[in-house]
Amino acid sequence: MANLNSEIDKRRTFAIISHPDAGKTTLTEKLLLFGGAIHVAGAVKSNKIKKTATSDWMEIEKQRGISVATSVMGFNYGDYKINILDTPGHQDFAEDTFRTLTAVDSVIIVVDVAKGVEQQTRRLMEVCRMRHTPVIIFVNKLDREGRDPFDILDELESELQIKVRPLSWPINIGLNFKGVYNIFEGGLDLFTPDKQKVTERVEINDINDSIIDDTIGERDATKLRDDIELIEGVYPEFNVDDYLAGKVAPVFFGSALNTFGVKELLDCFVQIAPSPRPIQAIEREVKPQEEKFTGFVFKIHANMDPNHRSCIAFVKICSGVFQRNAPYKHVRHNKTLKFAAPTAFMAQKKDIVDEAYPGDIVGIPDSGNFKIGDTLTEGEELHFKGLPSFSPEMFKYIENTDPMKTKQLNKGIEQLMDEGVAQMFTNQFNGRKIIGTVGQLQFEVIQYRLLHEYGAQCRWEPISLYKACWIESDDKEALEAFKKRKYQFMAVDKEGRDVFLADSGYVLQMAQTDFPKIRFHFTSEF
Ligand code: G4P
Repeated sequence: MANLNSEIDKRRTFAIISHPDAGKTTLTEKLLLFGGAIHVAGAVKSNKIKKTATSDWMEIEKQRGISVATSVMGFNYGDYKINILDTPGHQDFAEDTFRTLTAVDSVIIVVDVAKGVEQQTRRLMEVCRMRHTPVIIFVNKLDREGRDPFDILDELESELQIKVRPLSWPINIGLNFKGVYNIFEGGLDLFTPDKQKVTERVEINDINDSIIDDTIGERDATKLRDDIELIEGVYPEFNVDDYLAGKVAPVFFGSALNTFGVKELLDCFVQIAPSPRPIQAIEREVKPQEEKFTGFVFKIHANMDPNHRSCIAFVKICSGVFQRNAPYKHVRHNKTLKFAAPTAFMAQKKDIVDEAYPGDIVGIPDSGNFKIGDTLTEGEELHFKGLPSFSPEMFKYIENTDPMKTKQLNKGIEQLMDEGVAQMFTNQFNGRKIIGTVGQLQFEVIQYRLLHEYGAQCRWEPISLYKACWIESDDKEALEAFKKRKYQFMAVDKEGRDVFLADSGYVLQMAQTDFPKIRFHFTSEF
């Protein structure tokens, strides 16, 4: 067995997040190219559901197939073992992305230089901020016309609410784009548009080196020096500890499509990004260096074969060494399980592995034992925190349309909820089941999968709801009084927690004012 500490130090487990179309897939592919995990561009299929495909089932099924293969991409780069956790591009699957963010140690955010910070990036950044996840920003598509880089930096700071620190700086943009000055390592990277090859670097002594004038021309060299002077004056020197604490985000500029600025990003990333960090469980903090294995399920992927309801549970290793066929405790079921065929994800292949280390993800074939958030240990009673459900944004009553298949429907709904496809609330007043999702697409996915995987049929009925909030209070009587007053709007979630269904922003605001002893939460973990 390899040395645990050195295996941990080598690992960098992260996710790339962006608004659709900013270049996440392209950047992922280029990183794999550098790691030698793939050999030609175009090998990574985009796991985004095309905008036009809201009701295109085959498309969804195809995408599900692709996303198993690209859920986790591991590769070696120099002495480092890198694990990229893929996140779905479509915003209706944002909840999936939120959960994936609980399994990474850092994040790279891709921003389109022309579009700046877009909605989904903002939302995902909120999750990063909540968890103090270290963030590096890659401003992409410098080969196209875009915004002034100083404006982009200002926007990043104000929109993402994080301090930024450029570690590279572009020389012009669009048609006149000549390259970037690498502030982190001190070098000049010249731009030669080429989709397959890595650009050559011009070695310079410092920013005043006359080679810069010779290579990019006097005018651009002067502008570059002015810009760098301004940057050094405005932004404090880069401090790794601030980055690791999630207080400052280094920024790189480049063009993923042209493989430009990507190597600089990767080289800096492996140096500064954190190796697996301690993870908080309800009982205690778990350090990756601990000898005993612990891990948790952060994602469940249903299999493509509707005849076998098998899934793959994605387990993030938190501490110790995971070993094939070793007996592990499934804490929620208080059962001992052995896993004969765990898979690791290297490049784009799944292979059976004998052991895995903190930071790694293993895929465990499962037929209904796991749900999201489940913990595995060597016997300890441990529950990892940090897999919150977020208040959904769309709600519908789910109704059974085939009374002969009630059992199948209930089972199907339960399993799909365990998989984290959506959330279910049971209205305490009328007993009806309400499904809450992030987007319209999930309703269609649920209906389709219930039919194809469980043989059950359902229909949706409208319900006008603004938010579902989890409520609690230190004052039991106040809580009971609230529940009584609002009995028509009270529900329980799958775990039996109290949820208030507010039908408008106004109602919620009034409830907050009228019941000061009640705390209203917009995530299930508080
Ligand atoms: P996503 O995963 O974030 O959704 O984005 P993706 O990588 O699929 O990129 C979205 C589009 O932007 C793609 O074009 C891609 O080729 C392009 N792109 C990515 N990086 C750059 C860049 O540095 N410069 C320029 N000019 N374009 C870039 P597409 O036409 O939508 O798809 P495709 O047909 O080229 O695959």
